[in-house]
Amino acid sequence: MALPPAFLDELRARTPLSALIGRRVKLSKSGRNWKGCCPFHGEKSPSFHVYDDHFHCFGCGQHGDAISFVMQSEGASFPEAVERLAGEAGLEVPKQSPRAIEAERQRLDLHGVLDLAQASFTRRLHEGEGAAALDYLRRRGLSPETIARFGLGWSGDGRGALTAELARAGVETARMLEAGLLREAEDGPVRELYWNRVTFPIRDRRGRLVSFGGRTLGDAKPKYINGPESPVFSKKRNLYALDLARAGLRAGQRLVVAEGYMDVIALHQAGFTGAVAPLGTALTEEQLEELWRLAPDPVLCFDGDGAGARAAARAAELCLPLLTPERTLLLAALPGGDDPDTLIQKRGAASFQAVLDAARPLSHALYDFVREQGGGDTPEQRAALRARLVAAAGRIADRSLAAEYRSALLDRFYASRKRFGKAAPAQARPVRTHSSLDATQAERGRCLVAILLRHPDLLRDTEEAFAALDLSPVMARLRDAMLHASERNALDSTALLTQLNASGAMEEAVQALSSAPYPLPACAHADAMPAEAEAGWWHIFGLMHRSRLDEEVAAAGQAFIDRPDEAAQRRLIALCAARDALSMPDQGAEIET
Ligand code: UTP
Ligand code: MN
Repeated sequence: MALPPAFLDELRARTPLSALIGRRVKLSKSGRNWKGCCPFHGEKSPSFHVYDDHFHCFGCGQHGDAISFVMQSEGASFPEAVERLAGEAGLEVPKQSPRAIEAERQRLDLHGVLDLAQASFTRRLHEGEGAAALDYLRRRGLSPETIARFGLGWSGDGRGALTAELARAGVETARMLEAGLLREAEDGPVRELYWNRVTFPIRDRRGRLVSFGGRTLGDAKPKYINGPESPVFSKKRNLYALDLARAGLRAGQRLVVAEGYMDVIALHQAGFTGAVAPLGTALTEEQLEELWRLAPDPVLCFDGDGAGARAAARAAELCLPLLTPERTLLLAALPGGDDPDTLIQKRGAASFQAVLDAARPLSHALYDFVREQGGGDTPEQRAALRARLVAAAGRIADRSLAAEYRSALLDRFYASRKRFGKAAPAQARPVRTHSSLDATQAERGRCLVAILLRHPDLLRDTEEAFAALDLSPVMARLRDAMLHASERNALDSTALLTQLNASGAMEEAVQALSSAPYPLPACAHADAMPAEAEAGWWHIFGLMHRSRLDEEVAAAGQAFIDRPDEAAQRRLIALCAARDALSMPDQGAEIET
């Protein structure tokens, strides 16, 4: 870096980007950001977005910060742009050594060379030679907008067309080599690195082009290639789509780490715009640091296969020494054999949301990773497991956090012995609050009964939780009658009421469905949609027994991973909705009236 990074950061921080760009482009407010018509290509509807620290045109792909805006819009060199902005910001530019000036010039050159290659690749994708590649991307479910947003391209056949094109634009071969577009064969001539491949531009966190990935259209090996290390590209520091994910995070998305290029693209297309991926290597320490700069708890979401599980375990191991109370990870598990791309293709965005909602805190996942390294229930094996758990907690450098991990891991260790053999069935743990129900709890219980009278098909999924509830004596009698009536076969509401009438429990049922002493919530009405009734049931249940709701969420998450069918997905979504509603600040108010 030619100028001290701290100086450049200060300069950027002191230059309000919207004001700078607003002098040349008419900007209007768009959420927390600004947008206008792109000054770099002719357009009538605005696709040029200005964020607090960078701009991005979704039409032509131009990217950058305050300095590059001045360079691109005024044709200024880097030192000129810095000089001008520093003058406006009242900062003095530190003196540069000639070597530093040369390094900076070279770095800028390489971005320029890569930009030329990118323009060539995207043009080729939309010309005749790219037809098969474009067709391939469309068949994989990518929309034209997604293809444009990610700047996907076609490399050409590698027989020198790109080299010739760049040479005509005045780029020396040495620069192309440095930028990673060419490679030197051991004894042969230089060759183009990318041929017969779809190209994926790789940008750094600020949106500057630093390298390319490339995928074959068929089964040729290797399936993907990634550009070599270069003065502007470091595989272990960069993350694919980090620049786009930063915008996603600002819009409230979660930071998600997937395994591959296509996973990231499918995730963004499905609305998960906080997705990134490492670049063909295991996740590194540097990448973790980069992730934590953006979010305290990124979600790792690796493929649902053995390699994905190993990658997750390795990442957990790697991050231990770096954890602090403000920096952790969540681990999401995909159904066996799926990656985020295939899951979304098969089951839609909601199913990936369900996977995210069921992501486990690192402390939970860590126990399982350590347990998987060797199990058994002999005293010797258990002592060895205990020692490994203690050692894992000991790798956390933050002392108070290490102590918490140690006790959390050991709690699970001891709990695992108590349940040795067979897990205790859920009914064996009756949920009791206190012996005399207060009026609010009793009223909540009545609502839960009323919902199930209207929607008896929910009984199947709620039965265990329902059976363990602390209800008023009248409602408890009705519950027993309901469970008895529905024991043998599924009933609709009318049939259930008929049976309750026959068994003499009708009076209680009428009491449950009456609008006194308080009106029933909408989810207990006869015309409530099933999903509304289900989410409402778990919400009210959670108001009565929060910890049990959390257990139900965890169990539903696991059930969905074991068997990702529609019923499991629906149940998980309803439970997560209830849990999320309870996390809102004024939860509970609505049903106490
Ligand atoms: P995967 O083999 O899981 O592929 O590699 P994928 O992401 O599902 O890709 P599609 O769906 O078949 O197109 C995951 C990541 O590992 C790297 C790439 O970064 C890829 O996205 N990889 C994979 C390579 O670098 N080289 C390879 O030959 C294969
Ligand atoms: Mn894939």
